[in-house]
Amino acid sequence: VRTVATIADVRAAVRAARQGGAKIGFVPTMGALHEGHLTLIDRALAAADFVVASVFVNPLQFGPNEDFERYPRDLQGDGAKLASRGTRLLFAPSRDEIYPAEQRITVQPGPADSEWEGAIRPGHFAGVLTVVAKLFNIVSPDVAVFGQKDLQQVTLIDEMIRELNMPIALIVSPTARDRDGLALSSRNAYLSRDERQNASRLYGALRKVQSLYEAGERSTQTLEEAGRGALEGVPGMSVDYFAVVRRDDLVRTESADDASAAIAAVQMGRTRLIDNILLGDGSA
Ligand code: PAF
Repeated sequence: VRTVATIADVRAAVRAARQGGAKIGFVPTMGALHEGHLTLIDRALAAADFVVASVFVNPLQFGPNEDFERYPRDLQGDGAKLASRGTRLLFAPSRDEIYPAEQRITVQPGPADSEWEGAIRPGHFAGVLTVVAKLFNIVSPDVAVFGQKDLQQVTLIDEMIRELNMPIALIVSPTARDRDGLALSSRNAYLSRDERQNASRLYGALRKVQSLYEAGERSTQTLEEAGRGALEGVPGMSVDYFAVVRRDDLVRTESADDASAAIAAVQMGRTRLIDNILLGDGSA
């Protein structure tokens, strides 16, 4: 895959592709790519002709005690994986290319930032939206693909695109999972063998809530208690939150319907895992 590090080179490559009539697809990532990222590339390729991926570990979205320094990095491996799935351009900028000076203007998320990940990681989503807005302005894609795994991130990016009138179609791609159901994440690399074995209990709890919903249970409280109950006693795991919310704004309601989702975050040893599952088909 052609790899470029400067904004000028990305713009020139995208301009040339567009002049040739190509529709531009974009998949922003922080690297350490796994099959989950590659399914985002596949989705982009299905919707566009020329797919650009970026690899940039964005310092603005990490809190002072988070894992910015130890976040896994493997640019060479990433390039090979992207090439194998038909990516045309990899943008891998330095920190200075994206933030040549202090970033004084940032994108402040809407109210959907106030709970869940946003409450536990203050400033995280302002960091995400700011870098995504900058990357959108650099790449100027027609379509951008993000994973459903980060449901709150997707919700806030969707709001940013709409409220700031960005001419970009957002595609949300279903969560890619390991054979035992654990959602693929670059941070899974931090898990010890025992932690990895028990981590899939999170998906088990979400599935349990989904099957209760499918069996007719609608009480948010009952569904949440069942989810939390399924995680009780899992060695090394503590639950940050387990909630049933409306999927489009992440607000908790008293009863669930076909537009709800169960969302959860747990601490597994030193590793934080998040996941979610949709209840119903989104039609409510
Ligand atoms: O989801 C991620 O990997 C990051 O939050 C993103 C969207 C690439 C922004 O840094």
